[in-house]
Amino acid sequence: MKSYFYDNQEDVVSLDYLKEHNVLYFPMDMENDNYKEPLEQLCKERGYKNRDEVKLNKETPGLEDKLKIFFEEHLHDDEEIRFILDGCGFFDVRDKNDKWIRIRVEKGDLIIVPANMYHRFTLDETRKIHAMRLFTDAPKWVPINRHQN
Ligand SMILES: [Fe+2]
Repeated sequence: MKSYFYDNQEDVVSLDYLKEHNVLYFPMDMENDNYKEPLEQLCKERGYKNRDEVKLNKETPGLEDKLKIFFEEHLHDDEEIRFILDGCGFFDVRDKNDKWIRIRVEKGDLIIVPANMYHRFTLDETRKIHAMRLFTDAPKWVPINRHQN
């Protein structure tokens, strides 16, 4: 995981700064099945009762259209929890000054974007990710797009 201001990649954003915004990061040990126990522990602590897995790659039908939707700035009324099992991607989140922070996630990264925080998602040019989505409730993904002036 790496995070930096979107308009200046040299300007690294610390985990503490993310934490101030309730963006939480958990590095998972992907050797063997070592992540399984900490994952279950986290789910128990935070009440994540449901999960599914999503794979996106160049063979995914309509991938570019899907990415356009994911890259629309939006928020949810629940947390967005993603555990990256393979590949990589970018979460952009708005900080308290409305500046974009880019968070690069890759295999072994578990990230929690809090409810009501504007964000968007995309892939890098390899166009490949395998992610577990965790939910407190039944799987749903209702984006509330930001009004664009
Ligand atoms: Fe989202």
